Amino acid sequence: MAADGEGGMDAGALEIDAHLGRAHTRVEGPDKVTGRALYSSDLTGPETGTAHAALVTSTVARGRITGFDLAAAERVPGLLGIFTHRDFAGAVAPVKHLMAGGFANSSHRPLDSDVVAYAGQIVALVVAETLEAAAAAAGAVRVSYAEEPAAGGFDAPGAETLRLADLKPHHADIERGDAESGLADAAVRVEARYATPAQHHNPIELFTTRAAWDGDRLTVHEPTRYVGAVQHGLAAQLGLDPAQVRVVAGLIGGHFGSKFALSQHTALVALAARRLGRPVSLVPSRRNCFTIANYRPESRHRIRLGADRTGRFTALVHEAETVTSRFDPFVMEGAEVTASLYACPNIRTEERAVRVDRNTPGPMRAPPEVPFLFALESAVDEMAAALNMDPIALRRLNDTAVDPVTGKPFSTRPLMACFDAGARAFGWSRRAPRPGTMRDGPWRVGLGCAASVRPVKIAAATMRVRLGPDGAAEVACAHHEIGNGITTLLALGAADGLGVAVERVTVRLGDTDLPPAGISGGSSTTTSLMNALALGCGQLRAVLAQAATGQGGRLAGQDPASLRLAGGRLVAPDGTGIALSEAVGPEGVATVAEFVPEGSDRETALRGLRGGHIGLALGGAGKAVSWGFGAQFAEVRVHAETGEIRVARLTGAFAAGRILNPLTAKSQLMGGMIWGLGSALLEETVLDGATYRNPDLAEYLVPTAADAPEVEALLVPDPDDQVDALGLKGLGELGIIGMNAAIANAVHHATGRRIRSLPIRLEDMA
Ligand code: MOS
Repeated sequence: MAADGEGGMDAGALEIDAHLGRAHTRVEGPDKVTGRALYSSDLTGPETGTAHAALVTSTVARGRITGFDLAAAERVPGLLGIFTHRDFAGAVAPVKHLMAGGFANSSHRPLDSDVVAYAGQIVALVVAETLEAAAAAAGAVRVSYAEEPAAGGFDAPGAETLRLADLKPHHADIERGDAESGLADAAVRVEARYATPAQHHNPIELFTTRAAWDGDRLTVHEPTRYVGAVQHGLAAQLGLDPAQVRVVAGLIGGHFGSKFALSQHTALVALAARRLGRPVSLVPSRRNCFTIANYRPESRHRIRLGADRTGRFTALVHEAETVTSRFDPFVMEGAEVTASLYACPNIRTEERAVRVDRNTPGPMRAPPEVPFLFALESAVDEMAAALNMDPIALRRLNDTAVDPVTGKPFSTRPLMACFDAGARAFGWSRRAPRPGTMRDGPWRVGLGCAASVRPVKIAAATMRVRLGPDGAAEVACAHHEIGNGITTLLALGAADGLGVAVERVTVRLGDTDLPPAGISGGSSTTTSLMNALALGCGQLRAVLAQAATGQGGRLAGQDPASLRLAGGRLVAPDGTGIALSEAVGPEGVATVAEFVPEGSDRETALRGLRGGHIGLALGGAGKAVSWGFGAQFAEVRVHAETGEIRVARLTGAFAAGRILNPLTAKSQLMGGMIWGLGSALLEETVLDGATYRNPDLAEYLVPTAADAPEVEALLVPDPDDQVDALGLKGLGELGIIGMNAAIANAVHHATGRRIRSLPIRLEDMA
């Protein structure tokens, strides 16, 4: 059902199976690769009258601004304005964090006062006729500070550790059975500490904002993944009616967790545009992007895992702490997933947040599973080694059809099917059981594996579906094309649901003038939007069927519910039919579907959506536990003399419900797997006190084409009739999860060395 080339949507949802389920290239691909595609940063030509902004950011991590020396900056030709807290104090009203009922990715307000809360905070916005002049003037601004001591990370003096349960009202640590006696009774125990570093998003497209006023109406172009939150957040910040604010995201050049809701710089650009009476565009530097946006916080874990002599888990304790800012309740929570992964009678989790003087962290592809499963899946591998057992066999022994914490059934549980498919494709059977025994010339060879799991998320979304008299269709909503291929899925889905050719479908996204649809996040885009589209196409067909079967209609007297779509015609059971183009009439028809996930309160969900709030529900409607699954495999080679670590092959097998486009699905998964390689071996934001020391792509390492090995992503069938009406799970994040552990486990297998702190470096092999 979910395998390549099979199946489309069910009747009554999206009727035909001509397009969905089959590989299709991206409909917006040609524009992207020929340069015709325009991004927010491109809207700055001279004909637009746009002025250019640049940022001055704090060089100290905490304290107060005592003065500005602007003399040199003011001599830069083309300078239009330098805005500091002296200009903008009080101009931006406070807005809460998105996860606390507000709209912002950080509730911190730069340029509101002389207070510096973290290094890299915006302290001035400089605007000039050209980007070069703005950058030159920003570079010439001298700021003096009264510096105060800052806590940069774990263990720093002044860092404040809180139990998550005390910080976030909804968080509850897990306690099932008696973990301590479960550990005491265990025949074998693994007790270990793991650590993952801070990491920063580096999408190709920077965190741009362009603001233009037309009277008291504001239009913002920004590559955000939630135009609705930016609209409502800006309105609240600037004292406007949301109807006065239009936010356009257009195409988005990557985000994967960044570009998260309302940013601190957006209102400042809008204020500058208002003061100067012309559009202002800020294209921040790569260096700026390390501090004006969010990042994956560093994490530390202590895992204690007990097993009986046969390998059955008797107890699991997962204690974790992650860094957050002083001023926001955002914390990366993750032990809920690790606690529920394997059968175990005694489970305890404890999560803590450590408040430091840095900006608020945020989601980064597969928060929190990337760091949390690194810890658990490393510990499971350590347990397999301690038991002298194959790591896959150990996972099979502890596989479970019910969530051990809640007792609810998984809607499907293809974890071991993923391991089986992956192991076959990868050649796991060639793995020598004993670590350090496989060699290829000077290279020590290691094979490792780990699980990938992620709870399915789904959100309310509205979707406008239109069919014109010429047979052209349009689907539109205020969601976003982040590069994941949703434009293509919507075009394929509308083609199936309305019986038109893909080329006759126009997809419009990324604009608050369109019907609202929530955040592109949590791998919820496909689940939410395709269910909304199915609803919209169904509504539109029902309207047409009513008209065609009504008095004077071509199919008068037929039961409207009996009509089916076939070959672009509405066909009755007796074979009579009418072409859709004829059924729509000269005006065409349009409908707006309001999709609300099963189990969510309709009024609340739609109100939240219209108000720009976040509203992600879990798949499975609260009755079943619905996760996407995967098994990651890595072959690493560690040079016996130099310690150089190379990844030779990656194989991943994934089960994520019905697959709508195997081509874009595999692209997503492969991209994630390569990012997982980066997370294991390369990516780390280096902290010096509370300051980032490698904020550029020369020193912040991500995998290049030369680092990327042979990568194979397999799709495992996963028919799930409980997760949502269409059996969709989403897989935007599944591909990265577990890969860091698979590589660390492979390094152990190659060398006998267990590295518990990422990234794994050559010096760890010494
Ligand atoms: Mo994800 S980085 O939770 O959209």
